[in-house]
Amino acid sequence: MSDDRRVLTNRQGHPIADNQNQRTVGSRGPATLENYQFLEKISHFDRERVPERVVHARGATAFGEFEAYGTVGGEPISKHTRAKLFQEKGKKTEVALRFSTVAGGRDSSEAIRDPRGFAVKFYTEDGNWDLVGNNLGVFFIRDAIKFPDFIHSQKPDPVTFERQVANRVFDFWSQSPEALHMITLVLGPRGIPTSYRHMQGFGVNTYKWVNAAGETKLVKYHWLPRLPVQSWTEADAAVAQGQELGVHTRDLYAAIARGDFPQWELNVQLMDDHDHPELDWDPLDDTKTWPENDFPLLPVGLMTLNRAPENFFVESEQIAFGTGVLVDGLDFSDDKMLVGRTFSYSDTQRHRVGPNYLQLPVNSARAAAHGVNTNQRDGAMAYGVDGHGADPSINYEPSLRAGLREADKPAHQAQGPVISGQLTRERIERTNDYQQPGERYLLSEQWEKDELVANLVGNLKQCDRAIQERMVWHLFLAEDELGQRVGDALGISAGDVKHLQPVPTQGWGPAEQSRLDNLG
Ligand code: HEM
Repeated sequence: MSDDRRVLTNRQGHPIADNQNQRTVGSRGPATLENYQFLEKISHFDRERVPERVVHARGATAFGEFEAYGTVGGEPISKHTRAKLFQEKGKKTEVALRFSTVAGGRDSSEAIRDPRGFAVKFYTEDGNWDLVGNNLGVFFIRDAIKFPDFIHSQKPDPVTFERQVANRVFDFWSQSPEALHMITLVLGPRGIPTSYRHMQGFGVNTYKWVNAAGETKLVKYHWLPRLPVQSWTEADAAVAQGQELGVHTRDLYAAIARGDFPQWELNVQLMDDHDHPELDWDPLDDTKTWPENDFPLLPVGLMTLNRAPENFFVESEQIAFGTGVLVDGLDFSDDKMLVGRTFSYSDTQRHRVGPNYLQLPVNSARAAAHGVNTNQRDGAMAYGVDGHGADPSINYEPSLRAGLREADKPAHQAQGPVISGQLTRERIERTNDYQQPGERYLLSEQWEKDELVANLVGNLKQCDRAIQERMVWHLFLAEDELGQRVGDALGISAGDVKHLQPVPTQGWGPAEQSRLDNLG
C-alpha cells in the first residue's frame, strides 16, 4: 500500500528511518556518542522553552481586523489625528490581540482575581501600532520606577515560593495609596471576568494624537465589547478553575471555532493638550479616569477577532507588544508610566525572545507599504537581511551611493505645547488619591459594595495588624462607609486610626488634607 505522508527528517533534511531506537552497540547498549540524530532531537527539546514573560505570562492570542469609522465625534477624524488607519470609513487593518492575566506563571489559573491584559497589534500600512492595555481603566502606580517593587509584592514569596501574597501586596499598597482606585476595581466584581470576551479594554495611559498641522490632543483609549461585561464571584471562579485552569483560553478559541467572533468598539476620550489646572487631578495620572460626562466616549472603529493561532508558541508566546510602537499621527504623552513602559517592553523582548524578535512573522510590520528597510544587521538568530538599497553592501546612512534614504519629513516637526522645568525627582502635585475610589464605591450597586468589602476583609485578615490599620485609615479617607465596614470586620474603628499621619511615600495635597481633617 502506498503511503503519501511526508517523510520524517531532522533539521538538516536527513530522512529518519528509525525514530524509536537510539544507535547502540548491540541491542542492550551502550549508546554511541556520535548519534547525531538522537543528540539533535534531545538537545532541541532541551531548549524548547524561552523565558516566560516577567508579567502577563499566561495568555492567549487571536487574530482579526479593525474597521475604521473615519470620524470622531461627528467630525472627520483627520481634524485630530493623521494616523492613516483611522482616516477612511470602512478601511480595514489586520490585528492581533493577546489577552492575559498578570501575576501568575505561564500555566497558572485564568480564573484568578487579577487585571487582564488587552494588548492589540495593528499591522498598518505605516508599520505596526501596539496598544498595550488592560481590562480595567486605571493602574496601581503612577511612576514607572515603582513597577519592579510592585510586581515583586505580587509574586510568590522569594524564600518559600508560597503563593500567600496578601500580606506582601497589602504591605506595598498600604504605603502606596495611589493604588486605592485600582484596588476598588480588582477586589470588586470586575476582578474576575467570566471570559476574555466579556470584558472591556483600556489603553490606561494617556497618549497623544497629532493632526497634519502638528496640533495635538491628549487621548485615552477604551475598547467596549459587543457582549455584556460579566464577572465571576470567587465561588463561581473556584468551580471553573476546578475544571480547567485555562478556562478563558478555551472559551476564546471555542467561540472563534464556532464562528461566534468577538467584537469590541474602539472609543476615545479627547482633551486639549495642556496640564488642565482647572481639574483637581492630573490628566497624565494613570490612577485616574476621565469623567465621561466631561470627556465623552467617541467611537472610532470596530475590531473583530476571527482566527486562532495555528501554533501557540509561534504566534502567542513569541508575540511582542510595546508602548513605543506607534505610527505617524499617534504619539506619547509625558505620563511617567508610559515613558518607563516604553523602555521596558523592547528591552525584555530582546532578552525573552532574542535581539531579532522583530523578524518573526507575528511581530514583523507585514503590512507596511514601504516595507521594512533598516541598516540593522546580524545578532543571534538573524533570519534574513531587512530591505536595503540597490547595493546591499551599503549598510550605513548617510551615503552618496546606493543606500537607504531618510523618509520625507512631516510638514510640522514641532508639535504640542512648549514645556520647561527644572530637573528634579518629585511626584505630581495633584495626587488626589482618595476621591475617585470613594466615588466609585458610592456609585456601585449594593452587591458590588458587598463583594468589595468581603474581598478586602478576606485579604486583610491575612495581614499584619499595622497593615490592617493603615489600610482601614486609607479606606476611611476614601469613603466613611467603606472604612467603617472593613474596619468593623477587622475590629478597627476610626478612633483607632485617627492618630496616623500620612505615609512618607505617599502624595499629599489639599484634596487629601481635607479628607484627613474630616476623618471619623
Ligand atoms: C507585559 C512592563 C505597566 C499592560 C509587560 C512586560 C513587561 C511590562 C516587562 C512583559 C513583556 C514581554 O515579555 O513581552 C511594564 C512596566 C510597567 C507596566 C515597566 C509600568 C511602568 C503596564 C500597564 C499596563 C500594562 C499600566 C496596562 C495598561 C501589559 C500587558 C502586557 C504587559 C497587556 C502583556 C503583553 C502581551 O500580551 O504580550 N509589561 N508594564 N503594563 N503589560 Fe506591562
